[in-house]
Amino acid sequence: MRKITFVLMMMMMGLVHAEEAVPGAAGIGDSYFPSLGNGGYDVQHYTLDLAWDEATNMLSGTVTLNATAIHDLSAFNLDFLGFDISAVHLDDAPAGFSRDGRELTIQAAQPLKTGQDFSVAVSYSGVPGDGVPHYYDVFARGWTRHEQGVYVASEPNGAAFWYPVNDHPLDKATYRFEITVPQPYIVAANGLLTETRENDDTITYVWESRDPIASYLVTVNIGDFVVEKAKGPDGLPIRNYFPARVFQQGVLTFSRTPEMIAFFSEMFGPYPFEAYGVVVADRSLPFALETQTLSLFGSNTALGGASSENVIAHELAHQWFGNSVSLAEWKDIWLNEGFATYAAALWLEHTDGPEALDRYMRDLYQPLATPALALGHFLPPGDPPPDNLFNGGVYVRGAWVLHALRLRVGDEAFFDILRTYYERFQHANAATADFIAVAEEISGQSLAAFFESWLYDESVPEVPEMGLKPR
Ligand code: TRP
Ligand code: ZN
Repeated sequence: MRKITFVLMMMMMGLVHAEEAVPGAAGIGDSYFPSLGNGGYDVQHYTLDLAWDEATNMLSGTVTLNATAIHDLSAFNLDFLGFDISAVHLDDAPAGFSRDGRELTIQAAQPLKTGQDFSVAVSYSGVPGDGVPHYYDVFARGWTRHEQGVYVASEPNGAAFWYPVNDHPLDKATYRFEITVPQPYIVAANGLLTETRENDDTITYVWESRDPIASYLVTVNIGDFVVEKAKGPDGLPIRNYFPARVFQQGVLTFSRTPEMIAFFSEMFGPYPFEAYGVVVADRSLPFALETQTLSLFGSNTALGGASSENVIAHELAHQWFGNSVSLAEWKDIWLNEGFATYAAALWLEHTDGPEALDRYMRDLYQPLATPALALGHFLPPGDPPPDNLFNGGVYVRGAWVLHALRLRVGDEAFFDILRTYYERFQHANAATADFIAVAEEISGQSLAAFFESWLYDESVPEVPEMGLKPR
């Protein structure tokens, strides 16, 4: 679901002729990742009907996209890497296709007209990860088999390693999952479990996500899960999926989730989605991921007790900032990571008081202020290198952008800025300029120089209010 603006504008200007059907672009226009996503259409809904074989980790089935043409299309691309494709159907008729790396090109025998709804179904099988080059982020490989089951983590570009997709947060869509696994495995995915069907020795889990999801936040998890059900504010359904062996400790470790949801709802605005919860993979993981409505953690976090609170708050906060307010471009990743990091600091302030926040922010400033430490690890957050997108700068200095803004405009304006930004861009996409515009509007201050130095200057700015400066 994206705004249909550019091509329609061009048509009105007579620069593109409506009657000329042309191939959709092979990229959606992300300055950092030109081939990510695709142009020419807008996906509304995905149906992932997939069966998993435990012995081989083979995934097979059909993925169907319901989409709308944005301009007259003679062909269009999906992002998809690996697997054998047995058939592609366009509106139920077999369609020609070709493949080149991550790009799957589908031919429209009859051009698709501007505004026309169509469905495309890709039937495939194979072992996820086969054919994925090693230089891809080891943690973002999409469908990941481990000894006890499967998790899916795809940020920023791993979704295309397990299903055909318009792989960019500009094209969010709703999902239906029909995942078939051997009994007695359990499947946890985004949204709500709406049905289970027992077959002979397999079981099909149907999950539906009413709220649009960016592809990197789509997750399917397979394991021997035990489910804990709870309620959040206003009856929000919470379902936590723990491996049986970590259930007891997991319930304790995540017990403050409802309180955190209430706190962030107060600070930012109402929780954006139909449900929340966590899924814990039955293995240690060096990361966590804010998969929509069902954040993913390793067993180390579940077993970590109180020390896990920071990362638990961080992934929850992403549901507002990152998941509901999505990026328009990956370059602006600090809008996700800086916000989630600062949100976890706000939770600390809430639980432990203002001195705790002061200490925490001072500790975060140290590596930024020490050139030897900062070098390569804490880069200016506004334009991180595409191949080092998640460097410490987007987290730590990204969080500091917000704290420095708070010190500059005062608490009242600052929290008003956060709430207004969320209210304006929820369920949509935002860029750094959108946030700056809200900050200037609410504070009544001109903040161009402030953001310029915090986001882009090589050295970290001073913080006179706290007596901090780089060495
Ligand atoms: N967004 C994750 C976080 O909250 C970090 C992350 C980036 C990640 N890329 C990933 C996690 C790939 C898993 C896989 O900090
Ligand atoms: Zn994060």
